[in-house]
Formats: sequence, structure tokens, C-alpha cells
Amino acid sequence: MTATAASRRVFVVGDPDVKPYPLLNSLVVPRPIAWISTLSEDGVGNLAPHSFFTVACARPPIVQFTSVGSKDTLRNVRATGEATISIASRPLLDQVNGSSAPFDADVDEAGWVGVTMEPSERVAPPRVASSPASLECTLHSIVELGDSTVVFLDVVAITVEEAALDGDHPTMAALQPMSRLGINEWGLPPEVIALDRPRRAEDVPRRG
Ligand SMILES: Cc1cc2nc3c(=O)[nH]c(=O)nc-3n(C[C@H](O)[C@H](O)[C@H](O)COP(=O)(O)O)c2cc1C
Repeated sequence: MTATAASRRVFVVGDPDVKPYPLLNSLVVPRPIAWISTLSEDGVGNLAPHSFFTVACARPPIVQFTSVGSKDTLRNVRATGEATISIASRPLLDQVNGSSAPFDADVDEAGWVGVTMEPSERVAPPRVASSPASLECTLHSIVELGDSTVVFLDVVAITVEEAALDGDHPTMAALQPMSRLGINEWGLPPEVIALDRPRRAEDVPRRG
């Protein structure tokens, strides 16, 4: 670690006193939270949040999440090839956080934290009934990277509460999505502005 003239601290990956993971966790923010429901081979339900989560492909629709280390979610999705991802909505904060505890594999977190699940449309793992929207997914592929495993999931169905839709557009007001920040910090549903993207260079005022 060295301080530059501009008082910028430099963390060089590989230096013994540099820990990149907590730095990345605090810098790559806010991260959306996938509340992932899976079933074990024996049919035991599992529910856990994962914030290393994003859209990986637009067409076909593919999302990805990362398991840091080996967890029940990863084992289940490998074994059964299916998962649902429910939106971690603000009213569900305590339940989302509670479901992240290291429960034994034979414990269904949903029952423990008091979350009602309901049947999905196209896959066996249920979705969170009180979440305004869920993705139903099948396993696309898995990439092993160091201590982590990236899981790509084909999205086979998307369910959104009617009340959360303005036409075909899921509204932020209804979704109230929380996000993961650094250490133990959570982001609450953000302030939203609508701003059209410039379609041509000449639509952008030249300022330099
Ligand atoms: C908001 C939040 C986000 C998390 N994101 C991840 C993640 O992206 N990857 C991961 O491996 N663990 C993540 N965790 C930790 C897991 O939820 C935790 O290890 C959990 O016990 C895994 O459950 P499982 O063994 O039932 O899959 C997160 C925890 C919280 C509270």
C-alpha cells in the first residue's frame, strides 16, 4: 500500500497486507440481491441471498450469480439444474438477512424465517410469495474461478405481480429493491429519475 502525491491510496493485489475482496465488495456497489430458492436432490427447500448477481445475456435471457465458496444453493443448482430468484423487496429485509445465516443443509430457511413460498410456473423450486417478482431459471453453465463459482441460468419464466406493473413495465415503486453495499451495509430503494439516453452524438452538448 502506498500513498500517491494526490493522496490516493494504492492497493496492489498480491501485497501481503492488501485484501482485495472487502475492497471490491465496498466498491462494486450497489449490487442487486438475488434471493435464490432451490431444492436439494431430496426435495429440501433452500433460500439464500446472493448479491454477486447480474444479467449476463439479453437474448437469450441469461442471468448469473456467484457462489463464494461451496454453499447449499450451489450444490442444489448443480444437482437439480433449477432455481428461482425473487426480488429482495424492502419489506422483506429481515427475512432476506435471516436467510443468509449458515443453516444446516436439512433446514429450509423459508420456514425458519417465516417466508411463505408458492409454486412456480415452470420449475420445481418455489418462489417467494410475498416478493413482487421472480425469475424462474434452469442451469445454463458453470464456470469455476479461483475460490468462487459463477453460475449462469437461463430464465424460462418471469412472474410479476399485476400491481407491480405499469403496462409491461415493473415499477420501482412496487418492487422496492434493496441492494448490497460494503461490509454489513444495505442500500434501500433508491431515488429514481427518468432520463432518455442520447441516441446521436450531436444530441450531447459539447463541453470540452
Ligand atoms: C445481502 C447478502 C448478499 C450475499 N451475497 C452473496 C453472494 O453473492 N455470494 C455468496 O456466496 N454469498 C453471499 N452471501 C452469503 C450467503 O447468503 C450465505 O453464505 C448463505 O448462508 C448461503 O446459504 P446456502 O448455503 O443455503 O446457499 C450474501 C449474504 C447477504 C446477506
